[in-house]
Amino acid sequence: MGSGIAEVCARAGYTTLVREMNDELLGRGRQRIEQSMGAGVERGKLSAVDRDAALQRLTGTTSLADFKDCDLVIEAATENPEIKKKTFAELDQICPPHAILASNTSSIPIIQMATATKRPDKVLGMHFMNPVPIMRLIEYVRTLTTSDETLETARQFGESLGKRIIVSKDRGGFIVNFLLIPYLTEAIRMYEQGFASKEDIDIGMMLGTSYPMGPFTLLDFVGLDTTLFIADVLFDEFKDSRFAAPTLLRQMVAAGYLGRKTGRGFYNYSTGEQPPTGR
Ligand code: CAA
Repeated sequence: MGSGIAEVCARAGYTTLVREMNDELLGRGRQRIEQSMGAGVERGKLSAVDRDAALQRLTGTTSLADFKDCDLVIEAATENPEIKKKTFAELDQICPPHAILASNTSSIPIIQMATATKRPDKVLGMHFMNPVPIMRLIEYVRTLTTSDETLETARQFGESLGKRIIVSKDRGGFIVNFLLIPYLTEAIRMYEQGFASKEDIDIGMMLGTSYPMGPFTLLDFVGLDTTLFIADVLFDEFKDSRFAAPTLLRQMVAAGYLGRKTGRGFYNYSTGEQPPTGR
């Protein structure tokens, strides 16, 4: 997600600084961005000149201290509240007083990050969708402390990236995952109970409702570990069986079948298996 966010910022003309934990991760991220921009050029979405200019606007660092002159920071660290709170507290010390601090978390309450700083009025959620360069939405999360001015400045920024903005209150799942997670876990339950094959469920949703991917293809794309993490956060917050993770999901995560990123999820990509297409 981090590389996708950096890519859209640089493509929109912003001087963009990316922080990673080490140089190897920075190199891998830059490679991903170059590949994605290359695909954009091939598909006629940006010119080679614009790609080169965007890449020039992108620099990397391993130190948060380099964020001392920034106007907006979008945190996309691993989904661990302690890491996020620590990062926000450090950024609060380093960044200029006017800077807005945003989190791309898909499930952790934004108020936890806001209250780790001395500028809770300048903190909000900016939840991008995967793949960031293609998906047109950013879901903004306003906490009890986010000011109107922060929301308005952030809205102008998001629109300047070419995205549509929706605004949610600071509640588990926000808008998209509150609806998406029960849909995905219901599909797993249907399959787990032998009600239908994963292929038929995928084809049903693609051809029956024009979703671009069926639920199992999407689960493999998003990551089964990510889905389980969000389902557990939602269940914790609402104590509602709609959000209870199916046993099969939990077991697949334990087995390391995390989806495309590990070569195997509901489909076994390592053996050449591919999800059905909608054609
Ligand atoms: N830069 C810019 N544009 C690009 C691009 C790039 N690198 N790569 C592709 N594109 C453009 C293509 O040119 C094409 O544009 P047009 O429609 O104008 O022709 C468009 O993007 C689609 O590209 P493809 O034809 O390669 O891809 P596709 O049609 O096979 O769709 C997909 C791929 C967008 C991933 C689609 O399958 C899809 O939308 N899937 C669902 C994704 C989804 O639901 N994401 C959200 C997950 S939930 C989440 O993220 C939140 C969370 O917290 C879990």
